Order: sequence, then structure tokens, then C-alpha cells
Amino acid sequence: MANILDRYTFNNGVVAKNRLAVAPMTHWSSDTNGHATAEELAYIKPRAAGFGLFIAAATAVNPQSRAFVGEPNACCDDDIEHLKKVADTIKSQGALAILQIHHGGKETLPDATDGLGVVAPSADAERNAREISLSEIEQTIADFGQATRRAMAAGFDGVEIHGANNYLLQQFVSPHHNHRTDQYGGSLENRLRFPVAVLESVQAACQDNPKFIVGYRITPEEPFADGITMTDTLALVDELARRRLQYIHISLQGFYNKARRGADTNRTRLDIIHEKLQNTDIALIGVGGLRTPQQAIDAFNTGTAEFTAIGLGVLANPDFALRVKDGNFANIRNTIDLNQSADDYQMPQNLWEKMAWFVR
Ligand SMILES: Cc1cc2nc3c(=O)[nH]c(=O)nc-3n(C[C@H](O)[C@H](O)[C@H](O)COP(=O)(O)O)c2cc1C
Repeated sequence: MANILDRYTFNNGVVAKNRLAVAPMTHWSSDTNGHATAEELAYIKPRAAGFGLFIAAATAVNPQSRAFVGEPNACCDDDIEHLKKVADTIKSQGALAILQIHHGGKETLPDATDGLGVVAPSADAERNAREISLSEIEQTIADFGQATRRAMAAGFDGVEIHGANNYLLQQFVSPHHNHRTDQYGGSLENRLRFPVAVLESVQAACQDNPKFIVGYRITPEEPFADGITMTDTLALVDELARRRLQYIHISLQGFYNKARRGADTNRTRLDIIHEKLQNTDIALIGVGGLRTPQQAIDAFNTGTAEFTAIGLGVLANPDFALRVKDGNFANIRNTIDLNQSADDYQMPQNLWEKMAWFVR
């Protein structure tokens, strides 16, 4: 059985030094141009230490895709030198640097998009979102490719397509959000068309660099009666696997969460998806609620994922992976103490101010 500290060789030959990943986490701390700030880099550096993979925060692929004030940009070539600071900071600690590329869709905040307006697969009055046009769809697909090219130029080892957490790609897959009657809506095949086109655009952008890692993050189910089910997700996983990307990352609140609909509800979502991938060489990343080194090890030892990713645990303990490596589990912080300060956690102030929401 593999050990969490074992190396992992992706199907393109790139080696991660162990099976621990930093989950992508938005920090609201880039400057108004979406460029890395000193406090952002100071927050990243210690947290990359000891990890095999560091997946950097959701990063906008075009100005209309920005979901947060302080979101990093990979929207134009001027962004490359700033992205490079993030890649260099991560790589200086020996972790593979992965950039998560993102379009917020209807979750985009009007004040983050420079007045360009909020778009979604279908209009949503509640979110002030209008239907994205066919030409904007084509442009967005191309923009994911351009963002990939910029990530490569900046020295990242790979990109993760953000297909999870209610953002644009998930909105296309979801019958709850997508009511289109053209080739991008209706049947499951049509609802998968946009995310698959994004993957193909990303892979085309890095086809001359086979060592560049491409991952895709999925939210496997939605709670709405007409939302995404495991049936939809397993079909998406098939489409992704057919294109032989390097990894699939399942966004979960709980690593051990069980399937709700469309698959065996006695089994965990990860286990079901892992089985689906068993005859492939595509890695699976699991995440959710792993706050301590022991919990990360126990989760990895279930054998249901090639990597375990850690979010809040790394915010609370910047030296999380080093502790796993050294077996030093003393005084681990398993939550964020809101009576302390951003400095106590080596965190940017804007990120600290969101902590009350995350640990509520
Ligand atoms: C502060 C914060 C910011 C996050 N930002 C992102 C993000 O940019 N992209 C993403 O895919 N998930 C994001 N997430 C979700 C995490 O990647 C992770 O899936 C989630 O926190 C569950 O893992 P955990 O229980 O180890 O924190 C964020 C989570 C937190 C706490």
C-alpha cells in the first residue's frame, strides 16, 4: 500500500514528491490589477513547504470572470511577470505549482468585473446575470487556453480547471442552472460540451509541453432536486478521462461524504469515482475536513485517492506538511481561533477577515 509520503509520478512523467496537496484557496489579497502582493507571497511561502502539490487560488481567465475583489488575474500578458512571483514562491519550497484557472459565472460579483456585467449559462434575475452569448462562450473557451499559456510562461508546472463550487463550468453541467436550448444545454451531452471544450482548449495550449500538468476540479453533486447527480458526474469523469488529463480533483466538504443520488448511496463519492478511474492512469485528489496530519494520513490510507488535499488545516497550520513528514503532531491547531490575529496565522488581513465565515 502506498504511503502518503511516497512520490507520485503523473501519467506525463512529472513527479510530485509526496501525496499531499494544498487545496486551492482564494485569499482576496492580490492588488486591484489582480497582481500578487507581498503579503500574498509571504502567506504562500511557508505553506508550500513539504507539500507535493500547491494549487494556487482561483485565478481569472478574463476580466468578466473575476468573482472576487483581490482575485489574481491571468487575463493578459502583462499578468505573466506577476504570476511568475507566485510560481517561483511555491517552487522555491519544492512543491509543484499549479494555477487554478477560473470563471465565476453567476457567482461573479458585479464590482469585481469592472462593470462588464455578470454572465451565466442562462439568465438569473436573482444574481443579476444575463445569458452568455455563443460568441462569448467561444471567447471564454479560448481565454482558458490563453490563461494556460500564461501560466506556462510564468513557470507554473500545471493548471487546474475550476469546474467546481458553483462557478461557470459547473453551472453549464447543472440542469438547475443551465436552461439553454442550443448545443450547450438540454441533454447531458450538451451540458458537458462547454467544460469539455475548455479542457480541449487548455490541452491544445500546452500540447508542445507534455510535462505541463492539467487537472480538473469537480463538485460531484448539487443539493437541488434538479441539480447535478453522480450520474452526471460519472459521465463528466468519463469525458475527462478519455482526454487523458493528469488528475481529477473532487471538491468535497467531507472526504468521506457518501453519494446522494445516481450511484450507490452506501459508498463515498470518492470511492465511486476512484473505481471509475481504476483502469486509467489519471490521479484522483480528495479533500474535505482533514484538519490534522493524522486525519490526512487516515484519509489517504483509505486508498480512495492518490492525493489528499488540505484547505483550512493549512490556514491554521502553515507547517502542515512538514509536520506530516516529521511525525510532529504536537500542538496542532484544528481550527482557527478568531480571538487571535492575521499575524498569528501568517495570513493576509483580507483573508483573515473572511475567517469568521469559514469557521462559523
Ligand atoms: C479561505 C478559502 C478559500 C477557498 N477558495 C477556493 C478556491 O479559490 N478554489 C476552490 O476550488 N476552492 C476553494 N476553497 C475550497 C477548498 O479548496 C476546499 O475544497 C475546502 O475548504 C474543503 O477543504 P478543507 O475542509 O480542508 O478546508 C476555499 C476554501 C477556503 C477555506
